[in-house]
Amino acid sequence: YPIEKIRNFSIIAHVDHGKSTLADRLLELTGTIKRGHGQPQYLDKLQVERERGITVKAQTATMFHKYKLHGCNDGNIDEPSTFLLNLIDTPGHVDFSYEVSRSLAACQGALLVVDAAQGVQAQTVANFYLAFESNLTIIPVINKIDQPTADPDRVKAQLKSMFDLDPSDALLTSAKTGQGLEHVLPAVIERIPPPPGSSSSPLRMLLLDSYYDEYKGVICHVAVVDGALRKGDKISSAATGQAYEVLDIGIMHPELTPTGVLLSGQVGYVVTGMRSTKEARIGDTLYHTRTTVEPLPGFKPAKHMVFSGLYPADGSDFDALNHAIERLTCNDASVSITKETSTALGLGFRCGFLGLLHMDVFHQRLEQEHEAHVISTVPTVPYIFEYSDGSKVEVQNPAALSSDPKKRVIACWEPTVIATIIIPSEYVGPVITLCSERRGQQLEYSFIDRYQQSDLVKLDILLNGKPVDAMATIVHSLKAQRVGRELVDKLKKFIDRQMFEIIIQAAIGSKVIARETISAMRKNVLAKCYGGDVTRKRKLLEKQKEGKKRMKRVGSVDIPQEAFHQLLKVS
Ligand code: GTP
Repeated sequence: YPIEKIRNFSIIAHVDHGKSTLADRLLELTGTIKRGHGQPQYLDKLQVERERGITVKAQTATMFHKYKLHGCNDGNIDEPSTFLLNLIDTPGHVDFSYEVSRSLAACQGALLVVDAAQGVQAQTVANFYLAFESNLTIIPVINKIDQPTADPDRVKAQLKSMFDLDPSDALLTSAKTGQGLEHVLPAVIERIPPPPGSSSSPLRMLLLDSYYDEYKGVICHVAVVDGALRKGDKISSAATGQAYEVLDIGIMHPELTPTGVLLSGQVGYVVTGMRSTKEARIGDTLYHTRTTVEPLPGFKPAKHMVFSGLYPADGSDFDALNHAIERLTCNDASVSITKETSTALGLGFRCGFLGLLHMDVFHQRLEQEHEAHVISTVPTVPYIFEYSDGSKVEVQNPAALSSDPKKRVIACWEPTVIATIIIPSEYVGPVITLCSERRGQQLEYSFIDRYQQSDLVKLDILLNGKPVDAMATIVHSLKAQRVGRELVDKLKKFIDRQMFEIIIQAAIGSKVIARETISAMRKNVLAKCYGGDVTRKRKLLEKQKEGKKRMKRVGSVDIPQEAFHQLLKVS
């Protein structure tokens, strides 16, 4: 598939702003799924996602869409050409931002969905910055415009003031009524650039995600950055050096659809002989065995902030729980697992999660998808303890704290974050109360777009003692000397000598801070004119008059337009 007809994009949004509904509508519009397929939020495949109405795992779907794009056709310039669009769904909740940044790595653009009534919310800001840092083209989509309280103009103003997004770029949609949806895919095709890779370079493929399928085994989601991959090819992992044969390869359309090949710029799936998803390192680079390539930048590893113990409800079920956890972590690489023993509960696991919601979702998935019954211990954040014997340990389990009298605790540390909270001013009071309840310290407090007291002065330019109002500027007092000097030098360069001396000065009030003089000259245009050629003489006089037109006379001094232009360049 020609790379210039591929677009890889994500939909990012705050929870509930309509991301999954919009994704469904786009899949329907392109005929990828049937309208009214009876299962809303198609990409939310997990039961927990449907029950809680949140996206947990990033999912991908490939769509085909016919569109007439200037300069891009399938041979006939009058016919629209078919574009291959890879839509990568992302979770909205902060606990899953690890999944978000992973999915963005394969994209060149993102639809930033904002609820027309609620406006910009915390996760809109966080996700915007993830996309912005990944250099993605951002298309603002103001959704739910059908709601009676919708106020798209307010949202446009927010997008402008918070993210510097042009209000005229925003699309107005209702994923519920279908209003405005016809503009979404044209904007994706027109505004988002095709992927940057090259089909002729050696294969480099980013491993985005992996999961375990009962029938096919480990299925890897991949983004082919450079080169091409075919069924039967031998590939190696940059992380482990392990080699595999490609047994099946294809796209998610939206179910696994074998294609036999994936080309540069495409996102799809690969099945190799991997036995466990542990072999599929998320963020790994896969390449053709026996070639040498520079690995692609990987992902930031997940940071575990909440730890809790997991034990089988019935002590004898340890093996079953072990199996269930192994299967589930195949699908969720962002959980850390270590075995532990409790005197009360027996053999179990200590699990690290990204946050409390992540922990809840993991429990629910263990029960629903793997029929495991678990007891979990009170969640804790990791603490650091320093003991009297000089050792320092990270403690993720209260039971691990030393009770040895020779090893007394002499200091402890808890995790903190430096957070920026952006809120409407009416919420400042309650938010500050909430923060102080958590022993938060206010480091700084400021209004966005505020004025700041400053030391400003008016810098005048005087020609032969007369101030020229059009050349006056307001500058910071610390810059005044330098700017004044530059302005005077520029003017000297661009004002021609005239029949009298010109004094150029820069002054603050009555204090002159820079000065230059242009000495007098008698400019005789006829000097070159020898002989008595009258027509030539007249021509030259005309030319001098023309030149004067482009001059501005200030007092008695003629200033060329160019001098004014040059002054603008001084800052
Ligand atoms: P997460 O997956 O948790 O991030 O949420 P989401 O952003 O995917 O939101 P979702 O698509 O699940 O929509 C949230 C709710 O808003 C659902 O009840 C939708 O039916 C509703 N909704 C989505 N789009 C619109 C719209 O344009 N208008 C109205 N009135 N409701 C909408």
